[in-house]
Formats: sequence, C-alpha cells, structure tokens
Amino acid sequence: MTCSIIRCFKSREPTYCSSSILIPHRLFFFFFFCLLSSSSSAFVFSGNGTEDLENRSDLFPKILRDEAVARLYELGKVSDARDYLERTFLSPASMRAINLIRAWMEDAGLRTWVDEMGNVHGRAEGANADAEALLIGSHMDTVVDAGMFDGSLGIISALSALKALHMTGKLGQLRRPVEVIAFSDEEGVRFQTTFLGSGAIAGILPAKALKTTDKRGMAVEDVLKENSLEVTEESLSKLKYDPTSVWGYVEVHIEQGPVLERFGYPLGVVKGIAGQTRLKVTVRGSQGHAGTVPMSMRQDPMAAAAELILTLESLCKNPEEYLSYGHQCGDNSVKSLSSSLVCTVGEISTWPSASNVIPGQVTYTVDIRAMDDTGREAVIYELSRRMYQICDKRSVSCNIERKHDAGAVACDSELSSQLKSAAYSTLKRMEGDIQGEVPVLMSGAGHDAMAMSHLTKVGMLFVRCRGGISHSPEEHVLDSDVWAASLAILSFLETL
Ligand code: GLV
Ligand code: MN
Ligand code: MN
Repeated sequence: MTCSIIRCFKSREPTYCSSSILIPHRLFFFFFFCLLSSSSSAFVFSGNGTEDLENRSDLFPKILRDEAVARLYELGKVSDARDYLERTFLSPASMRAINLIRAWMEDAGLRTWVDEMGNVHGRAEGANADAEALLIGSHMDTVVDAGMFDGSLGIISALSALKALHMTGKLGQLRRPVEVIAFSDEEGVRFQTTFLGSGAIAGILPAKALKTTDKRGMAVEDVLKENSLEVTEESLSKLKYDPTSVWGYVEVHIEQGPVLERFGYPLGVVKGIAGQTRLKVTVRGSQGHAGTVPMSMRQDPMAAAAELILTLESLCKNPEEYLSYGHQCGDNSVKSLSSSLVCTVGEISTWPSASNVIPGQVTYTVDIRAMDDTGREAVIYELSRRMYQICDKRSVSCNIERKHDAGAVACDSELSSQLKSAAYSTLKRMEGDIQGEVPVLMSGAGHDAMAMSHLTKVGMLFVRCRGGISHSPEEHVLDSDVWAASLAILSFLETL
C-alpha cells in the first residue's frame, strides 16, 4: 500500500521524511486519508540539483521563495501579544496586517481596497475585464499562540505568483480577472463564529452576526466602527459577490496534518472538507464554600463538566457504540464517523474561579467535525441527550448553544484536476522526473473555501508541513515548499 512508501523532496533545508514525528493518534487518520489518495504507485523525485534551480529564471526563486518566505516571517511577527502570535478579527495587529498585505498587493501591480468587513482585496483585470473572475484567498486572522503559515501562506503564495506575472509584464495578459482576497476572520477566535469575512463575500453571513459580542461585550459592528469600517444590514448584503461574475475560488493552505510529509510530496489536492459545529456549554450549579458544604450536598458544575467532557470523548472515540442501536444514523454514516469524527474541548472557564470556592458556573466550548453531515447531527443529538441526563442526575442546569455550523464541502472535480496538473507540472519543473500522482486528501480543518463554496466552485491545494503540526508555534513549512506552492499557483494562472 502506498502509505508505507516514503520519499523525500529535495530541499536546501532538512527534509521531513521521518515518520517518527507522527504521534500515534494521527496514524489512524493518516491511514484513512491514504485510502482517499488516487495514487497507488510509488513516486521518486530524481531531478535537478538545487544550484541549477537557482539559475532558472522561469522558476522565480527570488520572488516565489525568498521574498515569499521573508513575507511569511514578517507577517508572522504582526501580533497583539509580545511573546506569541495572536491576531484575531480586527484587533490592532490585524489592522497592521491589513496595511502590510495591501502594500504587498500594490507591489504585485494589483488594484486594492478594504471592504466593510475588513477583507483586503487586490485585483488584476487582465485582458478581459468582463470575464468571470478567479478569486484566490485565505485568512489573515490567527488562533492564539499560532503558527505563521495557517492562512498567511495562501495569501502570500498567490501574491507572489501575481508579482512574478507583474514583473514579466504578463499581468495584463491574464485571460480573466484575478482577485486575491485576504479574509478577515476564519478562525473565529474572537466571536466564536467563523467566516465573518468570506461569509460576507459569499452572502451567507446573516445580519444578526453583526450583533455577536466578544468576551468584552463588544459587538462585531462596534469593532468595525472602532476601525472606521461601518457596516449596516444593507451594506453587508452588498458585499455579496454576484455569482455570475465569479468563475471559481482557489485556496492554498498548509495541510495541518501529516499525510503529505509521509508521502514525501510537497503539494496535494483537496477532495473535500469536513463539516463542523461549535457549541458553547454552560453548566450552572450552587456556588459555595469549599470547606463547609458536604460532598453529598453539592451541586458542583465543575465536576459535572468533567463528566460531560469525558462523555464527549467516549462518544467521539466510539460513535458506533453510542449510535448504532438508534435510528438517528444510517450504517454508512456510522462507518464514516468511525474514521473521521473528532471532538475537542479547547476553552473552559469557571466562575468565580478561586481555589476555596465551589464554582457557580462553568462554561466550555465543544468543536465537533466529521465528513458526514448526517452523522455529525446524530452525534450532537446523542451528546445533548446524554448531557441533559448527566446534568439532571447531578442537579445542575445545562445550556447548550450552537454557535457555528458548516456543512461538509466537496471540492469541484474539474478545478481540482486543473490544480492537480498545476501541482504536477510544478514539481516536474522543480525536480525533473516524477513518478506517481499528486496525492488527493480530505481536510479535517475548516477553510474559507467552505464559505466560498456557497458562491462558486472551489478547489484547494495543500502544502506539506513538519510533523503535521499546526495551530502551534511549531508549525513549519520548508522554504522549498513555499516556493512549490507559489509556483503551482503561477502554473495554474498560466493555463487559466
Ligand atoms: C480552522 O483552522 C479550523 O479548522 O478551526
Ligand atoms: Mn486556516
Ligand atoms: Mn487555523
């Protein structure tokens, strides 16, 4: 089986072929993803030495690698925190990122603007300004203590490719308009609702999202106003692009998983993206003195939350045990859940949070993802049922709020095969002789492409990362893989 064959892509930096970096729980997913690959044969990179590549003007190493990597590091320093990367929707650092990205867009010869939701746009009309436009994008916001490639890589690789066309006088020859969009919010860290930026462009962001508040009680619309971006219900609806003016949407993104590294391939094509739901759970009990209330008389929301979270873990590890006897979920959904369901409690807070006080309230988030939407719904139903039972048993109250839902998305097959050819020809240009096929894989992570799929056909390229690590400062992409990603977009644009 292909999974056991490891080859390393040559690079100026150390290669990533070691499988020992994989942590065990990822292996399960890895095998699942391997099965999705259309490649069934081994492949070998046997091509040119790095020095030869340095002198190949058609590969633009200065723009597509050196400058792109320098920009990734520069943007990676634009942070609201001093010691780690944090850039949430319209924070002070996000405003600085907007200006930086806009300047890079202008440097690539693009006409630029910032819209009322804080998305940055850079557009080249090409030779046919009236033709349907290709949109390329990704997000500029980050998680807390983030890596610097998640989101930024998609923006910077696209800008680098367009800059190469600009420098060679070919931007005006593009057969259709090309627009790069740096979206303002994909992670949803600040408001617990993702796709504020791409959702507005795709026309799926409801006006009520503008009233959502952050932890400090500031609403999305207030945060926008504070930054001189006024949005009303009417102007929000005008941000939606006319679907007849758009040809398709392409996104380059760090893989955030270990599959490409294991395959020894810098680039892969995404077949589809898992659906996701975010819940906010609030458990209320009886606040009291830690030293005086007997254990048998407590209504402790912290202990209840612990049981609820372990129930979530157990259900998500073994969905077939919880769902197979019910009729909520067909056999296929249960099978699909067994291989793709993941559930996470990433944030928890307690009130009043003191060591000698039995808490009065505990609040935590739940993130649930699966390839199968019916199965995900069944998990949420069963989880809620069991949670209310546990809360009843413990005499605490539970409230489950659905903060975000996004259905699973299938990438467009034609666009995907065009991206696959672009990736293949790129690797061939860089490495010479290649056997085997560019891997095809599913995405467990969410992307702006999910929102954009409501507007137009979408396609995605994944870029290999070290150890499959993301949402961590350990996130890393080889310089040569940044180059491959930028060159693949350039190849794609050349054949558009
Ligand atoms: C975004 O990175 C997500 O998948 O939550
Ligand atoms: Mn991302
Ligand atoms: Mn992310």
